[in-house]
Order: sequence, then C-alpha cells, then structure tokens
Amino acid sequence: MNMPTHTRLHGEGKPVYVENLIKRFGDTVAVDNISFTAAAGRLTTLLGPSGCGKTTTLRAIGGFHDADSGDIRIGDRSVLNLSPHRRPTCTVFQSYALFPHLSVFENVAFGLKATRVRRSEIPERVSEALAMVGLEALARRQAGQLSGGQQQRVAFARALVMRPEVLLLDEPLSNLDAKLRVQMRGEIRKIQEEVGVTTIYVTHDQEEAMSLSDRIIVMNEGRIEQQGPPHEIYERPKTRFVAEFIGTSNLVPVTVWETHGNLVEIEAFGARLEVPAPPDFGSDAGQQALAVLRPEHIRVVAAGEPGAIEAVVESCSYLGAAAAYLLRMPDGTLLRSSVAAPRGAALISEGEHSSVIIDAERLYLLPFSSGDSL
Ligand SMILES: Nc1ncnc2c1ncn2[C@@H]1O[C@H](COP(=O)(O)OP(=O)(O)OP(=O)(O)O)[C@@H](O)[C@H]1O
Ligand SMILES: [Mg+2]
Repeated sequence: MNMPTHTRLHGEGKPVYVENLIKRFGDTVAVDNISFTAAAGRLTTLLGPSGCGKTTTLRAIGGFHDADSGDIRIGDRSVLNLSPHRRPTCTVFQSYALFPHLSVFENVAFGLKATRVRRSEIPERVSEALAMVGLEALARRQAGQLSGGQQQRVAFARALVMRPEVLLLDEPLSNLDAKLRVQMRGEIRKIQEEVGVTTIYVTHDQEEAMSLSDRIIVMNEGRIEQQGPPHEIYERPKTRFVAEFIGTSNLVPVTVWETHGNLVEIEAFGARLEVPAPPDFGSDAGQQALAVLRPEHIRVVAAGEPGAIEAVVESCSYLGAAAAYLLRMPDGTLLRSSVAAPRGAALISEGEHSSVIIDAERLYLLPFSSGDSL
C-alpha cells in the first residue's frame, strides 16, 4: 500500500500494540485475550456487534479502564501505568461531550489551555484545527447551537488540536442521519490521511468500516475473529461469523469431491462446480464444507444458457440501483442474488423458471463444523 502523499501535520504517528489484553467486569469477560497492532499513521477499525468489547478495548487504550492482564504499548513504551491525560492519545466519545455554553473556539481551545502550549500559540492552533474540519466561520457560535454534524466536527477538531500520536474514535458518527454519516466518514478519512495520525476507530457498521479502514479487526464476544484489510475480510472470511456479519452471504453446505491443484470440485444444488481451494483446506472425498456465496456472484440468466443451473424465482425486489432475487435451486436451497443496474421491465417475476450462473471463482469454502445448521 502506498503512503498518502499529503503533508503530515502531526509527524508520522506511532504504532499501537495491544498484547493479550484481558478486561473483566465481575463475571463478564468483556475483552478476552486479544492482540493486534494498529500501524503508524493508519486507520484501524474495531468492528463487531453490540457488546463484543469494542468500547472496552478503546477505553483500555485511552487509559479509562485498567487492563486485568496483557500490555498496551504505543511506540516503544508501555502506557499501562499512565493516566489518560499522560498518554499520547486523544479520544472522541460517541456523545461528543462538548461544553454547550462555550463557543466553538473555546471548546477547541479548552484542552490546549491545560497543556504547556504557549498562550500566544493557541489561536493559531485552534484556527488550524477548525480549518481542517471546515468550521472557521462558526468559531464564535455557541456549541449548543450547532447541528449534529457541526458538533461532530467540533469534537473532532478538539481532538486534532492536541496533535495526539493516537486518535481514538468511538462510533463518532452514530448520532448523525444516514446521508451525513456517509459524507462525514469521507471527511474523517481525508483528514486522517492528511494528518497521518494513527487512528483506532470503533463501529458496528460494516459498511462504514469497509469504506474507512486500512485494516479491520472483527470482534465477537470479546475475541478477535479475523483481522485484515477490508477486501480480505469481505472476500475471504475465515469464519462463519465473519461471513454472516460482513455483507450478505449465502451459506450453503456442499460436498467436496476431488482436489486438482488449487481447485476443489464440489457438489452443490445437484451440480458440480470447480472452486478455489482455501489454504489449509482438507480435501477428503465426500467431506462436507460450507460455501460462502455473495449475492453479486450469482447471476440470473435466461433459461437454457450453457453452464447454467435451473432455478425458480421465489421473489424479486426492485431497489432502483440494484434488484434482489430470492431463488429456489433444484435441491430446494434458497439463494439470494443481486443484480446491479437492473432494467426494471426486464426483471424476471415471481414463480417463473430461470437459470443461474454461479461465479465459482469467487465462491469461498469454510470448514463445516457439526454446529452448522443446514
Ligand atoms: N462499566 C461496565 N461495567 C460492567 N460491564 C460492562 C461495563 N462496560 C462494558 N461492560 C460489558 O462488557 C461487554 C462489552 O461492552 P462494550 O461496551 O465494550 O461493547 P461494545 O462492543 O462497545 O458494544 P456497543 O456496540 O453496544 O457499544 C458487554 O457485555 C458490556 O455489558
Ligand atoms: Mg461501544
């Protein structure tokens, strides 16, 4: 990956190393022995469902929770014994925690006044931070009189002005409406790259994580399920949980027949398909596996096209930019398929016979475990 070419206002940032972190609350193990690295100057996202331990991890890094065991290092030193304000981190909380009666300027200047930054430097630092988030014109406005999106920008500026080595963001967009979320995530990413600050971002929104992150850490019940760049998480999920949590998946039990080099021949829906063999995949003939099939890799075509499998359209939803089919395969399996840029009038309606071509190259196999329901 190329380093961004923007000017780095904060220097290079430092990596964060979380090593075997455990955090309990009474009997609840909120964070259960996790290890990961947030690379210097990159945006790393902690992604997972509610209660999986994202906020607890972030708070441990920021110094708001003591770890029960494990280590957290920033650059080459452990920060476990440092109080939050002694750590080179800055946290933006979900609630923003602005002072509503203070002006935007005063909110952003607040943290700086408690540091050793010279008084005479403060206005310039505040103006620079407000310019980054596009709020110069509102510097004198009371924070309580801003829209949600504007408040979010102030909270972000208040963190940036401190020039932290590590920026910690906990669901910073969750109070905003859908359209503003999309706009703001683009802005956050742009500023993060410009500034080059190491950032750890918490969200339960998988699309947000995909669009923003250099690296995603998928968490479930206090543990890490998988970590990697967004495309790897989406295209090569390592567990059923990841396949189901990220995007839409069809999970289909299949039988494995033969392995030819990097390809495996499987039987699914009464048809034979050659698909890529995942690393470390056992290849005993007759073995069961779980196929992960994304809706965009299942193409509905006119009946009778060569290589196609017969199917019946159970339902079809026209969504404008896409259409979604629910298809019944010859062995009764239901598959979700999506079509980009559909022509509404050409869609196949419910109950009609059709054919399906599966993009076998994109099909991904997971080991089948006894707990997998069919
Ligand atoms: N202060 C606390 N006291 C007791 N239990 C807590 C405390 N904070 C978190 N927990 C528990 O720890 C677990 C992880 O919580 P955490 O807030 O880290 O989840 P999360 O992934 O941030 O979820 P969400 O997406 O809902 O914010 C949950 O079971 C939660 O109930
Ligand atoms: Mg949380």
